[in-house]
Order: sequence, then C-alpha cells, then structure tokens
Amino acid sequence: MAPVAVLKVATTPFEGQKPGTSGLRKPVPVFQGEHYAANFVQSTLSCIPAAELQAGSHTLVVGGDGRYYMQDAVQMIVRMCAANGLRKVIIGQNGIFSTPAVSCVIRKRSAAGGIILTASHNPGGPNGDFGIKYNISNGGPAPEGVTNAIFNYTKTIKEYLICPDITVDLASLGTQTFQVAGQPQPFVVEIVDSVEDYLQMCRDIFDFPTIKALLATIKIRADAMCGVMGPYVRRILCQELGASADAAVRCDPKDDFGGHHPDPNLTYAADLVNTMKTGDYELGVAFDGDGDRNMILGRGGFFVTPSDSVAVIAANCDCIPYFQRTGGAKGFARSMPTGGALDRVAEGLKVPMFEVPTGWKFFGNLMDAGKLSICGEESFGTGSDHIREKDGFWAVMSWLSIMAARKASVEEIVQTHWAKYGRNFFTRYDYENVDAAPANQMMANVEQLITGATFVGKEFSHGDKTYKVAKGDNFTYTDPIDGSVSTKQGLRIVFEDGSRVIFRLSGTGSVGATIRMYVDSYETDAAKQKLDAQVMLKPLVEIALKLSQLRELTGRDQPTVIT
Ligand code: G1P
Ligand code: ZN
Repeated sequence: MAPVAVLKVATTPFEGQKPGTSGLRKPVPVFQGEHYAANFVQSTLSCIPAAELQAGSHTLVVGGDGRYYMQDAVQMIVRMCAANGLRKVIIGQNGIFSTPAVSCVIRKRSAAGGIILTASHNPGGPNGDFGIKYNISNGGPAPEGVTNAIFNYTKTIKEYLICPDITVDLASLGTQTFQVAGQPQPFVVEIVDSVEDYLQMCRDIFDFPTIKALLATIKIRADAMCGVMGPYVRRILCQELGASADAAVRCDPKDDFGGHHPDPNLTYAADLVNTMKTGDYELGVAFDGDGDRNMILGRGGFFVTPSDSVAVIAANCDCIPYFQRTGGAKGFARSMPTGGALDRVAEGLKVPMFEVPTGWKFFGNLMDAGKLSICGEESFGTGSDHIREKDGFWAVMSWLSIMAARKASVEEIVQTHWAKYGRNFFTRYDYENVDAAPANQMMANVEQLITGATFVGKEFSHGDKTYKVAKGDNFTYTDPIDGSVSTKQGLRIVFEDGSRVIFRLSGTGSVGATIRMYVDSYETDAAKQKLDAQVMLKPLVEIALKLSQLRELTGRDQPTVIT
C-alpha cells in the first residue's frame, strides 16, 4: 500500500485555549469550528516532553466518555498523531474509555501519556460541552508547567500536521497499521476492550470473592447517568460480582447523556435518591459522564458527603487488600475546600496529611514520591495511588469492601466513624453561569476584605452563633516534591473554632462564571452529630453570604445547586 501523506495545514491562533482545572472545555460548536480542535491537539502534541515520548515508546492512549463529537475527535487525533511521528495509539473500543481507565492503561502499557475526550459532568449533545485533556506518563493530568506550555503554544501556532487519509475502524479489536510518508517506522493503532485492563486492576486491588458474597446478600443500585460507566457496571458489578440485573441503571452510554447533567449529586441524581428512599437497596451509587466522580448513598437515601466518604475509606483501608499488602496508607490528602474529616483520621492513625489546591493534578507528585495513598475532593472525587485520576468505581468497591468486612450498613459505618472522630459538617453552594464581571468583583472585594490588616480577630454573628476570624488568605500551595508554587487557589476564611468559609471561581465551566462557596465546621458533641448539615451550617452560610455581598452583587437569591 502506498504510504499516507502528511499535510501541513496553515492556521492562526484562537483566543482562550487555556486548559482549566481539567483540560480545555468549550461548547461543542466551538470545538467544531474550523481548525479549533486541531490547533489545540497540535499544541498538546508539540508540548509532550521529548523524554516522556521516548520513555513511553512514542505511544499515546486515547479515549473518552462517548459524548457528542467524540468520534470525530478520536479520528482527528489519530490522524494528527500519525502525522506528528507518534508510533502507536491505543484506543478503547468505539473510542470508549472512562477517565480512570485511561489512567490505568497509560500506566499498565507504560505509554508516554494519553488524551481524554470528556467534559466530565458537563452536559453533552450538539449544544453541550466537549473537552480535551492531556495526561502524562504517570497516568495523571498534566501539571501546570505543561498546561501553561500548551496554552503558550496555542497563542502562536501557525500550522498543524495531519494525515487526512487515515480512518480507523474503532469497532474492531486488534491492530491496524499505517505507513506514513517520510517516516521510517509504521504507525500502529490498537483497539482494546474498554473494560478489560481496568477490571484486571480491580482484581489486584480488591477481593472479588468477598464482594461477590456480600452482593449475594444485599442489593446495590448503580446509576451510570448515561455516561461511560455503563459497560463497567455491567461487566464488573453484574457479570463478575453477581449484582442483580436491576442494579444497573442508565447504563447505555448516550452522546447527550439522555439530555441530563451527568453529575452524581443530590440534585442531578435525584432519581437515585428517590429510589433509595424505598429502602429496597443497601447501597446506591452514581457516576459522572467520564466515571471519575461518584456519589455514595445508604439505605433510605442516607447521603455520605464526599468529604466523609474519603475519610471513612481512609479510616477503614485495612479492609482493602491493596493497602493490606503495602502495610497501610503512606499519606492522606484532600483539596483545600474539602471538609476536614480526613484530617482527623490522619491525626488518629498518625499518617501524614496534605492539603492541596482544587484539581486532581495536585495529588500526582505526592503519589509518585510515595507519600500519598488515599485522597479526595468534596466535588465527589475519591481515589488512591493505584492510578493518577480520581476513580468513582474504586470508591464503590472500597465501600463494598468495608461493608463486607465490618458487616455493617453504610449509615452504621458513618455513624461509627463520627462517634470516633467527630463530624465535619460540610456544604457547598454553587452559583452557575453568573455574569463574569460581578463574580470577579465579588471575589476582588472579598479578597481585599479578608487580607486587610483588621480582619483577623473580627467577630461575625448570626442568631446565637458568633465566629471569630483566625485567618484570611488567598490560598497558595507550594508543592512539597518539586517546589512549584500555585497562587490564588481560593479565598479562605478560617475561624477560631476551625470552621472555614471558602470562595472560588470554577475553572471547569465553559460559559460565564460559576461561584463556589464552601462551608466546613467541626462538631464533637455526639448529640448534634445527627442533625441536618444545612441546619447546622445555616449561621455560617448567612455570615458568608453577607460578608461577600454575593446576593447583592450577582442578583442571585438562591444557589443553582446545594450539596
Ligand atoms: C471542579 C471541582 C474540582 C474537580 C474538577 C474536575 O472544578 O470543584 O474539585 O477537581 O471539577 O472534576 P472547578 O469547576 O471547581 O474548578
Ligand atoms: Zn469527571
């Protein structure tokens, strides 16, 4: 066969191709604009460090959550990888890979990295969002040094390379080989089963017979929200672990997620919450579009906050073979806005604790250095050093392992945890799609207020509750491994009793601004631990809304989502 030609396409830069908290996310029509996606992919490919490429045999892993435009993007990426001298691309069948599966496959195959096609929990479809994210050879999201280099490249790009004549059959397992003009070695595309490698990894981490025995006695309900997790739920939970067929809900991936927000929280996974209220199921779980997020519910709809979930898993990690083998956990970490429950476990187990900025990429260095085993974010992200992404399915398997070992329900496990460590009440208010100008104004005002000379020591009251300020800052993080500094990671007010209020602007939205307000408060009084979080946190919420003037500046009376 004649070699396929490499085309040099002239292009000009697009504004705003800066990767956010988790890759470049924009509405689908933006990505569909001529050259838009190709510019970003070329910038990414051009910024992969030569040493990584070499060590990773010039191989990339590619896949995504099945959302609208993904098939086109996969074909384009393959054509550009070929033209840019990559030697091999490993793709999940039909382009499907959960984000944790990509991380797993990059590591297992010692690839140079991967490209994940997802906008995570953002809605999909022709007018929904799309996203492109680059992961490095450790399997984790590219660190800021790399994403900044990509962004700089997008600002000066003049051309990209592509082999327009390559089209891959994404449905057929096995390899397809192409000869690219001017390249000494063939270009190989390998289509692999989307679940297999991930399943094998789960077998190494968890005890399947124990979980299977548990699932023979309790019922689980798993809602994939029409995202990528359907095949994983069916194959692992149902086929391998024997969960009944009615366990798998919304498990056929759809390119528009059935028109819903594929975000596993109390608002967008309300169906699951209602089903759990029937009392028929012991464990209810939901995943986001790309399978890195999870929500855990107990019988009756008992909600485990993600901040509690990671703390409970950490405190019970002796129930998981992976940690038994490594002699327990090496360290714990949470993102700054995440509730402090994990800190109490670290203290109790005398395990080092780290606080990092929002975004999973900040956990990677600690894991690579062998200092971190279990970590989480309040945004329904839970995971460990088995890969370098958060992993919704791992969280579910961890909960099943704990339930089996402790012979207790979700609620009992959590109550026992609070009784031992105390309870951190936590809530997050999201104000989505606010006009950027007032949102920025609010952040600027709050920053000025809380970093002002007279702020520390100030008292704020609501009802009979008074809180005295111990500290106010814009969170700065110095990575303990490579010394890199990340500034402006969230406005933080810490009160003398340890309660915290945090304001951040989202880095994953694709239009306008999303304001996130986080409130965290610790309670040791056993009598109060069973109270409703919204009731307990009301005074702090009111104080936060008042001092920020959020309602007045944004015109929003109510948040879009309360977690
Ligand atoms: C959000 C979450 C953050 C998470 C990220 C990717 O980012 O808050 O914890 O890592 O999505 O899933 P944000 O929109 O707040 O920047
Ligand atoms: Zn996600």
